[in-house]
Amino acid sequence: MLDVAIAHAALPRSGALVLPVEEGAVAAAASWAGLDAATGGAVTRALEAAEFKGRKGQTATLLAPGAGLSRVVAVGLGKPGEITRLAAAEAGGHAIVPLLREESVALAPGALPPALAAQMALGAVLRSYRFDRYRTTEKPEDRPRLRALALLSEHEAESAAAWAALRPVVEGVFLARDLVSEPANVLTPAEMARRCEGLASLGLKVEVMGPEQMRTLGFGALLGVAQGSVNEPRMVVMRWHGAGGARKGNGARPLAFVGKGVTFDTGGISIKPAAGMEDMKWDMAGAGAVIGLMAALAGRRARVDAVGLVGLVENMPSGTAQRPGDVVTTYSGQTVEVINTDAEGRLVLADVLWYCQKTFDPQFMIDLATLTGAMIISLGHETGGFFSNDDDLAAKLHAAGEATGEKLWRLPLGEAYDKQIKSNIADMKNVGGRPGGAITAAQFLQRFVNGRKWAHLDIAGMAWAGKDAPLTPKGATAYGVRLLDQLVADSYEG
Ligand code: BES
Ligand code: MN
Ligand code: ZN
Repeated sequence: MLDVAIAHAALPRSGALVLPVEEGAVAAAASWAGLDAATGGAVTRALEAAEFKGRKGQTATLLAPGAGLSRVVAVGLGKPGEITRLAAAEAGGHAIVPLLREESVALAPGALPPALAAQMALGAVLRSYRFDRYRTTEKPEDRPRLRALALLSEHEAESAAAWAALRPVVEGVFLARDLVSEPANVLTPAEMARRCEGLASLGLKVEVMGPEQMRTLGFGALLGVAQGSVNEPRMVVMRWHGAGGARKGNGARPLAFVGKGVTFDTGGISIKPAAGMEDMKWDMAGAGAVIGLMAALAGRRARVDAVGLVGLVENMPSGTAQRPGDVVTTYSGQTVEVINTDAEGRLVLADVLWYCQKTFDPQFMIDLATLTGAMIISLGHETGGFFSNDDDLAAKLHAAGEATGEKLWRLPLGEAYDKQIKSNIADMKNVGGRPGGAITAAQFLQRFVNGRKWAHLDIAGMAWAGKDAPLTPKGATAYGVRLLDQLVADSYEG
């Protein structure tokens, strides 16, 4: 992760400089700390030649403009007075791209207040993520060189405090991206649980459950999915007591986050086609987001009690795998006819959701899952879909999405959809046919929330990006981490 150091606001004598520019205020920005004068007016001339106006998302890279600087990247913030935190973060993300081979980069504050300047640093760090664990032959000249970012500030203490609050969130995001990027031969359920155990160092209480304990409890749905794989399942419970829940005893009801962690989804006996199946290594992205979120909350010592639960399984076809037509008994006691072994995520979540509400009596449960291809058809890769039985929670989630840029849109639940999962021989079946496939999956989950306040985020289209975005290089996005951290910060920290 790029290191961010706060430094006094003065023109650097070398290295690269990021210059944020409000729309229509190019001259003012260029003269920051005497930059334009020190370069003999080269900065203004170059920005004029580039027709750079400071529009949102606009960038101009100036090479060796003088004054010892290697590069100046001007980045547009959009109209003054309309610069949101997200706009500042995205500007930071745009600006860092041409600078990753620099040795030193300073971020000029310009007219930005410390909170927005810190958001620019956040954006720059988020965009600079790279998963290069398995590259052994990359040439040095192809590798990014940048290690640290200087955040220049006229209010050093304020800027340092703003960055200190953001840094743990970046760490949560990067943890989630690392987990999602790992191949499934490395990231088995057991290995993923081990990495969760490592988070105890942040003050999280981490408990891991294996198949014996699950059998004793009666997790028939989760175990049915797991039974085709030699890699044993795990359930991990991560608890954060930031509001004194532990001290208050059982009085405080935690916020609960539940993630689908299918470390690889072949489809099982209802096997998926070969083309693109490698993508199913990221079928654990819901769990990855929950783990990243819990790391973020603990890392920034959030004043809230929260619990994160992840169901970790591998869905494989084999002589021991469950068959289409099998009937499993879930932890709730309800029975499920498994029509399609590829609709496995809902089976895993059924047992974890029931366990969550029963064990923790949470204020709400929010689950995240790469649950259906149908959700990708509905909303594409721009917006996550969600369902909720509570309008207030839904409104808060939507607002957190707008604030972080991790957008989401609500879809309906209803009795008529619920009818689609009626079974002839069991309490329900695990598929509801093609029409409204994301909705019938949500209906299935709703049968395991026991009437609790709940939201389900289907992140199938959002977990992995095929193209770069301002805050996310292509690949694992960690969608959900910043979204839910924002939800907690805005509405649940006293
Ligand atoms: N993990 C998949 C959903 C998925 C598909 C996520 C593509 C990301 C990209 C899930 O387990 C699945 O296979 N769902 C099936 C359900 C169907 C059998 C009812 C699907 O969407 O096709
Ligand atoms: Mn599947
Ligand atoms: Zn799946």
